[in-house]
Amino acid sequence: MTDDVRIVEVGPRDGLQNEKTLIAASAKIELIDRLSATGLRSVEATSFVSPKWVPQLADAAEVYVGIAKRPGVRYPVLVPNEQGYERARAVGVDEIAVFTAASEAFNRKNINASIEESLSRFVPVLERARADRVAVRGYVSTVLGCPYQGEVPLADVVRVAKALHAMGCYEISLGDTIGVGTPGKAAAMLRAVAAEVPMSALAVHFHDTYGQALANVHACLEEGVRVVDAAVSGAGGCPYAKGATGNVATEDVIYMLHGLGLRTGVDLAALAAVGRWLAQLLGRESGSKVSRAMFAQDDQSPRGGGRA
Ligand code: HMG
Ligand code: MG
Repeated sequence: MTDDVRIVEVGPRDGLQNEKTLIAASAKIELIDRLSATGLRSVEATSFVSPKWVPQLADAAEVYVGIAKRPGVRYPVLVPNEQGYERARAVGVDEIAVFTAASEAFNRKNINASIEESLSRFVPVLERARADRVAVRGYVSTVLGCPYQGEVPLADVVRVAKALHAMGCYEISLGDTIGVGTPGKAAAMLRAVAAEVPMSALAVHFHDTYGQALANVHACLEEGVRVVDAAVSGAGGCPYAKGATGNVATEDVIYMLHGLGLRTGVDLAALAAVGRWLAQLLGRESGSKVSRAMFAQDDQSPRGGGRA
């Protein structure tokens, strides 16, 4: 049975990259292995970025090597440049994600490059990936607003998404990095990009700063998107997007999708248990309302759920 919607679980990367207290590599590995056991088909594992910029993920190689790779599960990693590509390949990575933004100001803060510089940095990375048969995903950040520049013209989002797709990224994830979008704007943004890049090559990535993420996912599903990024227990944030909170919680997305009769292949009860474990590890309440509801009565085991 094929899934109707593919979830890209970004918790181990986007969820942890902004954590100030260093988390042991063994805990990161346990998180990834527990996630892959829930039926998720894609778990973004870590980032081969500069450890000076993101100290939390300095252990990328150790984590990637330590994962019990489950057949049928993909483990993409973030790569900003050729140096990151080499580090990733040295430990056998076979899927990467390159990332840039629709806003010049954000790109400068996040990767110390203009949009054009970032795209030209990716050219050799994509060439090598093609030769090595490494799949490449592309992220466009700040698609619905920028913490530095404010409004981001739709034309810039479309241009950058199109460029990444033309360069060879098999899928483009459209990121509302600071979580300011609302459903009408999210749908309009997706429509505009889908006029230039096939919908089947698009994914959406919402942060929940203003509590709109799930509504935005729903609006984009109605437009036809079938790949959704999410982070278990709603963890996440970008160190270079101050004030932005976590990603939409995977548990909440799965609950909504199953309620809509859409299959994901994910066991919600098992996923909720992983989210609860992660929240305890991070010492905070889960950002997933579904998880909180499922654990509300019986403090040990979640109510509801099941695989769909
Ligand atoms: P830079 O300082 O301009 O780079 O950073 P550089 O090429 O001048 O190198 C400076 C130093 O970093 C050198 O070391 C390099 O060797 C080293 P030194 O000589 O000083 O000892 N270096 C590296 N080390 C390890 N791995 C590498 C690497 N590259 C250089 N790959 C750079 C430019 C892009 C490297 C830096 O800005 C960076 O790593 N930025 C990453 C920031 C980041 O990870 N942000 C969060 C992810 S994006 C996000 O969260 C958004 C997303 O979720 C979607 C959404 O929500 O919108 C994807
Ligand atoms: Mg993000």
